[in-house]
Amino acid sequence: MQMPVVPQPTFYIFKCEQSSPPNMPKPSCVNSDTQELFNHMASTLMQKGIMGPVQPIRTSCLGRCQMGPVMIVEPGHHMYVQLTKEKIDKIIEEHIIQNRPVQEYLIPDTFWGDPVDISK
Ligand code: FES
Repeated sequence: MQMPVVPQPTFYIFKCEQSSPPNMPKPSCVNSDTQELFNHMASTLMQKGIMGPVQPIRTSCLGRCQMGPVMIVEPGHHMYVQLTKEKIDKIIEEHIIQNRPVQEYLIPDTFWGDPVDISK
């Protein structure tokens, strides 16, 4: 008997969920103002019926804390910064559904250079 092929997700969304203790000098992506962003994203994906083909993943620090809250959409290494619920809604609508990354919400190139070549 032939097994059915399970399709890959179309997108992964890695959302930083790092929360630093109070009084840490470095900012973190999750605080009292931003703690609802992941659930907002997940519930929006569910409401639109695309949870599954789009996989939201909670991660720890993604190394761009000063620009948080941040998340990466894969494929493509698209790093979105200074997220709000409204920005997440637009990213889902335009990047995820229409496959058109939202350029104005992406991290500036000066903070997101080319990947390091580890083969050398
Ligand atoms: S705490 Fe989110 S990128 Fe570092």
